[in-house]
Amino acid sequence: MSQDETATTVVIFGASGDLTERKLIPALYNLFRKGRLPERLNIVGLSRSPFSHDEFRQHLYAGLQEYTPGEVSPGWQKCAQHIWYRPFNAAEDASYEDLSDFLEELEQGPANRIYYLAVAPTLYVPIVERLGRHGMARENGGWRHVVVEKPFGHDLTSARELNRIIHETFDERQVYRIDHYLGKETAQNILFFRFANTIFEPVWNRNYVDHVQITVAESVTIGHRAGYYDHAGVLRDMFQNHLLQLLALVAMEPPASFNADALRNEKVKVFQSIRPIEPENTIRAQYEGYLNEPGVTMGSQTATYAALKLHIDNWRWQGVPFYLRSGKGLALKASEIVVVFKCPPHLMFGGLEEECFSPNALSLCIQPDEGIHLKFEAKVPGSTRETQSVDMEFHYRSSFGDGALPDAYERLLLDALNGDASLFTRSDEIEAAWQLIDPILESWEAPAAPPLVTYPTGSMGPHEADQFLMRDERWWWTGCMDHGERHAG
Ligand code: BG6
Repeated sequence: MSQDETATTVVIFGASGDLTERKLIPALYNLFRKGRLPERLNIVGLSRSPFSHDEFRQHLYAGLQEYTPGEVSPGWQKCAQHIWYRPFNAAEDASYEDLSDFLEELEQGPANRIYYLAVAPTLYVPIVERLGRHGMARENGGWRHVVVEKPFGHDLTSARELNRIIHETFDERQVYRIDHYLGKETAQNILFFRFANTIFEPVWNRNYVDHVQITVAESVTIGHRAGYYDHAGVLRDMFQNHLLQLLALVAMEPPASFNADALRNEKVKVFQSIRPIEPENTIRAQYEGYLNEPGVTMGSQTATYAALKLHIDNWRWQGVPFYLRSGKGLALKASEIVVVFKCPPHLMFGGLEEECFSPNALSLCIQPDEGIHLKFEAKVPGSTRETQSVDMEFHYRSSFGDGALPDAYERLLLDALNGDASLFTRSDEIEAAWQLIDPILESWEAPAAPPLVTYPTGSMGPHEADQFLMRDERWWWTGCMDHGERHAG
């Protein structure tokens, strides 16, 4: 270990929580094994639990064995030598003084630090303010980055206020707001697919695209998360962040360079071009049995499923609807984007002249079975006029191997360490996203709100969501899951 190198410390607030055990430590451990972390690395866990350093390491090791079975190698012992623990009370100044002394002793000189807020959102402000008050945000010889988990605010006003308070202590360049969907390789690949090829971008516009669909379906129900979920609901939990981020990647203009600000400028422009979403262009639904989940308030009107239709008022997308849907308790877990192309201007093969049931469709499969499918028409051998939809497929696993897709947190932690904020959301981006979601949430609480409908757990959502598309003579696609077959229900 070179003592000349500046020490780097990852300070995890909320170290006894689920996120640390399931995501952060496995990601750090994998990066460590791959030799991608700085040599003079410290990982310091903080929480109220009274662990010793060793008890904390054992607790993390048990978590690793549970969540990444078969992956834990003897390398863990080496990694564990970099891990430390401090009992900590986020609301007490004494804890920060103690932490500051502990870190200085560990780092032995100027050091880079990440403060990772893996805590309940109510603790973001107390922690950030105290880090400022105790001089711990000051960059004297090493950088300071703060990583903030979602949810970032629960509406536009609270998000603005949170940004304001964070900016009193940290500059925007020091702030890394996580949206783990941006860390998924397949989400990043949307940009490479669009902008590292010549053949797709010329047709990626209103002249050739009929409409775009974004589906993030989850089979899980809310489990024991009612305390959070019953207040949040699907729009805050999934749309304000993950679905809108996917939409931005699909719809944005090509940035001039691949750097954080150029990328994020283009994403903000997409959000700012979205026409306000009318209540009649929304469906809200709840899975049957939601009201019996532990912790859900009696008669709760929280939506666990939503579908939206929106328009992007710019040159590229004028007149092209985007349909977004997401829900819990659905038949499967799958995230995909389908770009459905217009029908050929003239069909000369007979039978199809009147109606075009088989437009070309490009499916970007975010998860699972990550890949890309292009559905097109082929002549049925032996027939004279008959065509059949066939699928041209790319699968990450067959092209790059089984271990090709690192967990999103690996990539995001590495980027936060390297100071690359491209895959993190900027303050104006978060606010622009809330600006779109807030009016929908308000309209859902108004007397003339669209009705909250229900859907059976294990279905693909309410019938109303199918009718929603049928009224536009369209249907939901599940290109990645059923190889381009039309899915009408
Ligand atoms: C989280 C939401 O941000 O994303 C969860 O809070 C959701 O409700 C999860 O289940 C989905 O992430 P993934 O990576 O499993 O698709």
